Amino acid sequence: PFEAQVDSILNLMTIEEKLGQLNLPSSGDITTGASESSNVAKNIEDGKVGGLFNIKTVEKIREVQKIAVEKSRLGIPLIFGMDVIHGYKTTFPIPLGLSASWDMEMIEKTARVAATEASADGINWTFSPMVDISRDARWGRVSEGSGEDTYYGSQVARAMVRGYQQNDLTANNTLLSCVKHFALYGASEAGRDYNTVDMSRIRMYNEYLPPYKAAIDEGVGSVMASFNEVDGVPATGNKWLLTDLLRDDWGFDGFVVTDYTGIEEMVYHGVGDLQQVSAQSLKAGSDMDMVAEGFLNTLKQSLEDGKVSINDIDTAVKRILTAKYQLGLFDDPYKYCDVNRAKTEIFTQENRDFARTVGAESMVLLKNENQTLPLKKSSTIALIGPLANTSVNMAGTWSVATDQEKSKTVLDGLKSVVNDKANILYAKGSNVDYDLELEKRATMFGKDIPRDGRSDKQLLDEALAIAKKADVIVATLGETAEFSGESSSRTNLEIPQAQKDLLNALLKTGKPVVLVLFTGRPLVLVEENETVPAILNAWFPGSEAGLSIADVLFGDVNPSGKLTATFPRNVGQIPIFYNHKNTGRPLGNKEGKFEKFKSNYIDVRNEPLYPFGYGLSYTTFEYNNLKINNSTITMDGKINITVDVTNTGNYDGKEVIQLYIKDVVGSVTRPVKELKGFKKAFIKKGETQTVSFDISVEDLKFYNYDLDFVAEPGDFEIFVGTNSDASLKTSFKLTK
Ligand code: IFM
Repeated sequence: PFEAQVDSILNLMTIEEKLGQLNLPSSGDITTGASESSNVAKNIEDGKVGGLFNIKTVEKIREVQKIAVEKSRLGIPLIFGMDVIHGYKTTFPIPLGLSASWDMEMIEKTARVAATEASADGINWTFSPMVDISRDARWGRVSEGSGEDTYYGSQVARAMVRGYQQNDLTANNTLLSCVKHFALYGASEAGRDYNTVDMSRIRMYNEYLPPYKAAIDEGVGSVMASFNEVDGVPATGNKWLLTDLLRDDWGFDGFVVTDYTGIEEMVYHGVGDLQQVSAQSLKAGSDMDMVAEGFLNTLKQSLEDGKVSINDIDTAVKRILTAKYQLGLFDDPYKYCDVNRAKTEIFTQENRDFARTVGAESMVLLKNENQTLPLKKSSTIALIGPLANTSVNMAGTWSVATDQEKSKTVLDGLKSVVNDKANILYAKGSNVDYDLELEKRATMFGKDIPRDGRSDKQLLDEALAIAKKADVIVATLGETAEFSGESSSRTNLEIPQAQKDLLNALLKTGKPVVLVLFTGRPLVLVEENETVPAILNAWFPGSEAGLSIADVLFGDVNPSGKLTATFPRNVGQIPIFYNHKNTGRPLGNKEGKFEKFKSNYIDVRNEPLYPFGYGLSYTTFEYNNLKINNSTITMDGKINITVDVTNTGNYDGKEVIQLYIKDVVGSVTRPVKELKGFKKAFIKKGETQTVSFDISVEDLKFYNYDLDFVAEPGDFEIFVGTNSDASLKTSFKLTK
């Protein structure tokens, strides 16, 4: 489609105008990278800009679109991108939190709402979803993805693309989606952002690539190249990755954009000067250059030098023009610039109510001794902690359109949910951390948690004084928004020391303590797990944070979130993930006892603190009667597995029933188990539901040594349960 139209424009274009279409400068409204682009307005007029990002609002976008349409020679409209990654003005939990909901319909709807709001504000392209698998909580961007699991991450990738694009880019309320960061960005060495990645093809194909492929199979319109190298070649200039795999094998026909200054960064990777790397990147399959202006300023010379062909350039230009046609921008360049939509469709009460629900559905109850939770609305509550009365930290990282001040604080949320506002007492208790430098780095927006004028002792005394009057203490602690996200890697994954000391002092009062944890990543919570009776992991819940938290604390919502990333016992266990290989020397015991000459540590057990898929509820669930309808399956067959799940506790609640498969013998080593199915079911107290899973041969396939996608005959084991430690077991045989 649109081939004839695209060709007819292409025929009119000068080389400068062609290179202009490949140029994506940043507008400077929001900072998402190191350098700013210059002369944007003048360049648009000269036909040297294909699109803009980091610019928002209908008025501003209309103004620059007008320059492109009315002042540039050919009047080609611009495309407008932005990092709309977990909502727009109505902000949902950070993606890692959202993924803990295990609710694909809800996740899709968050993308749908985000698309509606962003497109009502002039935007038509989002740099989302981020589907980078990560097993390293040191990496700050673990907050932006869906955790460690390939199968699960692929489902989320599909749901997000569906939500943004709705299979209809011609509509004015959908967004062109951009899956990122292609590829393997989440596997950086030592969890340090932008660091080197090195990985075997077999791991790549089986564990890291499928979520990108899932997005492509779902019809994603664009792909963002990653900053890291793949097989020793920066992804931005990696032909195997961007053409052989992406286009030739997977059939992707949209366009590839580099990440911020990705082309220029190839110079620092050490693979050539700007002219050289720009040519390499184009030939590899990059179509649009974000910020670096390498294409704009060097490709003409490379054409003259015979380093690139006009066909290389035209191919990229055609892909960009096709996307603009698909979006309908040639029919109406102001299609997304409707002031009325901007006034009525953004941050609506309906969207905010939905965000409140999503926030609550994403929380993970990590511990709840003696049914400390839910709280009674009539109790006197001491709400304590530096995160208890902040609004700018509630939405978390990459909330580029959020009106931070409008986010609901925990204090506001609790007060508005209880009947008697007088019984919520508040004290800050401590600063974010003792380390002033770290605190500054981690509170970029955090002007509302300035370092307190009072001494640590004064802060603590105030907290202890209100704790004395209370029935229960809610300690609201953890990371601030800027502790995670891009360029926020950490080597210490504990709650900052000042807050740990506060928590310990609160525990000493003898009052029951509930820890409401804010975090953008798995933290090390060994001490807290030992000493604190109840821990609710709230992540960063979004614009209605305080209300979502109050709903869960008071039991109006029974928590049902489950971790999609393993919580380690210490940083030394990282990388840690449930679907590891067995090794030739697996441990013989499950109690974590050390065994000499086996694969374990002398100072910590192998198991994590909280495994993948883990999360509690205010009620309890029992699993019985695991049944399989056949003990063998043929190459074109299917099997059905059922299990009875009974709500044995005192509350109605939702449970995520998880199914894992182990391929017992393979031509290459296979993981100890892999998630292959899940269902989220609402089960009333006392009720039993029979939950059913269909497994087909497709679910048993993997990439073998030759990278063929195959299922191998032999024995398979199935585990079903409440998390990845699931122990109810059955088995079957795959026959030829
Ligand atoms: O989309 C982002 C990317 O994830 C990281 N670098 C900047 C881009 C644009 O803001």
